[in-house]
Amino acid sequence: MVVIPNRWEKNAEDWASIGEALPEGAFDEVVLLPVAASTNDIARRKLDTCDRVLVLAESQTKGRGQGGRRWESPRGGLWFSLGLREAQGNLSLVPILTGVAVADGLREMGFDARLKWPNDVVVAGGKVAGVLVETSVRGDRTDVVVGIGVNVNICPRFLQERVVESRVATLSALAGHPLPRGEVLSHILAAFFRLWPRWREGRTEPVVDRWRKLSVTLGQRIIVQGRGGDPRAAVAVDLAPDGSLVVLDDEGTPRRVVEGRLITRDEGLAGSDGG
Ligand code: BTN
Repeated sequence: MVVIPNRWEKNAEDWASIGEALPEGAFDEVVLLPVAASTNDIARRKLDTCDRVLVLAESQTKGRGQGGRRWESPRGGLWFSLGLREAQGNLSLVPILTGVAVADGLREMGFDARLKWPNDVVVAGGKVAGVLVETSVRGDRTDVVVGIGVNVNICPRFLQERVVESRVATLSALAGHPLPRGEVLSHILAAFFRLWPRWREGRTEPVVDRWRKLSVTLGQRIIVQGRGGDPRAAVAVDLAPDGSLVVLDDEGTPRRVVEGRLITRDEGLAGSDGG
């Protein structure tokens, strides 16, 4: 069921083909909203009554990014969440899988999209998309909410004035013209649902291998800023099957980074913020 509200914004003309954008039978319910606090919260609530939901909003007033940071979500962007009710446990690779799907979707559209660990999608050094996966376990069921934000038809200057910690990019500025967001959505969902069934069967290597190929992080000298810890210099050497980053510290000791921010020295970026 596709629910299209009457008050859908005027600039949503590029949603005309939304029905065609959706993989056949992928969702029980699709909700399009002119404005939402956070599509992740709506998707999570919707999982009380359905198994698979897609929630899109024209803008978000309380868009959330990684590490509890704010995610700028003005009109013109693609802000959406997939709510998936799952039976299984190990979800650590889902953020990586989602980053790969977004990058591959954008690559199909001709953008040279790459991944900065864990799942920042960058084009020409600027962050064009971010992923926030939130999970909750309720008895024998696990609710997975996959939130994706893509800077599509937005003026980069508008975003950059509000996002101080990373260099941002927008697809319209990169392409030189506005893009139909339904098409961007379609490519990302198709890539996501190519990977998802294989991951559900327990196959992690297609995701991990693809991430390695698209990574701008591997081989880089980085600074790892863990939660509450001192920043540490290291070299990123691999992605482990659970999605953690394998690094060699200055003593040559291998360590795994499960969460935190990366600062890549050549870019001078501080990764996870964006919008
Ligand atoms: C990041 O910090 O890189 C993650 C950003 C994720 C933003 C998306 S927009 C749709 C969904 N709703 C939210 O509140 N956040 C995610």
